[in-house]
Amino acid sequence: MTHPNPAAPPETAPVLQAIQLQKHFSHRGRGVVHAVDDVDLVLRHGEVVALVGESGSGKSTIARLLAQLMPATGGELRLHGEDARVRSRRAFRRYVARVQLIFQDPFGSLNPVHTVRYLLTRAVRIHHGRLRGQALEAELQGLLERVHLTPPERYLDKFPHELSGGQRQRVAIARALAADPEVLLADEPISMLDVSIRLGILNLLKDLRDRLRLAILYITHDIASARYFADRTLVMYAGRIVETGDSESVTQDPLHPYTQLLVRSAPNPDDLADRARGARGEAPSLVNPPAGCRFNPRCPFATELCRTELPPFAEVGEGRTVACWGYSDRVDRPVLGDVGEAYGERPTIEVPHLAEEPDEPVQPSGAAAEASVAYGPSAEEGVR
Ligand SMILES: Nc1ncnc2c1ncn2[C@@H]1O[C@H](COP(=O)(O)OP(=O)(O)OP(=O)(O)O)[C@@H](O)[C@H]1O
Ligand code: SF4
Ligand SMILES: [Mg+2]
Repeated sequence: MTHPNPAAPPETAPVLQAIQLQKHFSHRGRGVVHAVDDVDLVLRHGEVVALVGESGSGKSTIARLLAQLMPATGGELRLHGEDARVRSRRAFRRYVARVQLIFQDPFGSLNPVHTVRYLLTRAVRIHHGRLRGQALEAELQGLLERVHLTPPERYLDKFPHELSGGQRQRVAIARALAADPEVLLADEPISMLDVSIRLGILNLLKDLRDRLRLAILYITHDIASARYFADRTLVMYAGRIVETGDSESVTQDPLHPYTQLLVRSAPNPDDLADRARGARGEAPSLVNPPAGCRFNPRCPFATELCRTELPPFAEVGEGRTVACWGYSDRVDRPVLGDVGEAYGERPTIEVPHLAEEPDEPVQPSGAAAEASVAYGPSAEEGVR
């Protein structure tokens, strides 16, 4: 593992764990949407796990299942090894205090008629009772300082529309922190923000991972940001995980043909759908998903085996797994080739890599500059 989080001890026990998680949505007369199938996922203190995949692959459904905003149709959810399924309002409130969800659109998630002070006070009181006076003020200021909105007095009496997108997302994160959670589920937390402030939000989440030892699930279309930000990366396709491993290996040496396509399309994942569609038909229907490997209709290496049997996970090196028959020892396994050649070459875009975050804001150079190009400057200077 070449890109570990130095703050995370090697064998941290799981905080939140999904085992064979499944979500099928039923629509009367329109069949069943197989949104999530057989998903295993482990979140640990002080570690960021990225969940990467194109639109409709089931990422937000997993986030909502982990947040218990809706029930799973199969599988288990464990918090510190115990069955975590909530069966009452009280149990749900206790669970939410441990596991907080941050949404893509901070403007939509903050009520525009209330000030930051009101929004944070409400969150603090839900989770910590009726704090008042100096104690409440200190708590509110501490929350804003934790998300680097300083001096706090400048922000406390503002309405959401008086803040920039990045500042609003910081307030949304501060509100999540009011619960003093162990787990943050961040569903595309930067995708609606201006490119120039994205890196600042990722750096803030990294800082919270290290200082508060939060377990973070980072959901994204953008595999390049997973390399920069996440310790481990899970790649999802059509409701199933297809590849897992440390982020550096998955992004620099992708094994599954779909991951290879995803990396080649970075940083423009929308391009992926066009290229794959042009080459190999439509993205699969989740109402009637393809038999065998769900990627088979778009995979240039698919064989009869791929079209009939679901590939099991093969272990391919330390901590790496891939669900593709090409890595099995079956005699009838497909022969994998270069996915770029198979789909038609295009310039490969180097996935940016930020080796170390500087303690002090400095002019980015080298790998840091690459990440800056993709996500904007490493800005804790002037929080926008
Ligand atoms: N409430 C629902 N009822 C029926 N189908 C749903 C529901 N919610 C999600 N789906 C379907 O489940 C699949 C996965 O959706 P999901 O929102 O989890 O994907 P996603 O990976 O988050 O996509 P995006 O990147 O666009 O946010 C999609 O086919 C979607 O249409
Ligand atoms: S080779 Fe077969 S199993 Fe592997 S990704 Fe392609 S279709 Fe799926
Ligand atoms: Mg989504």
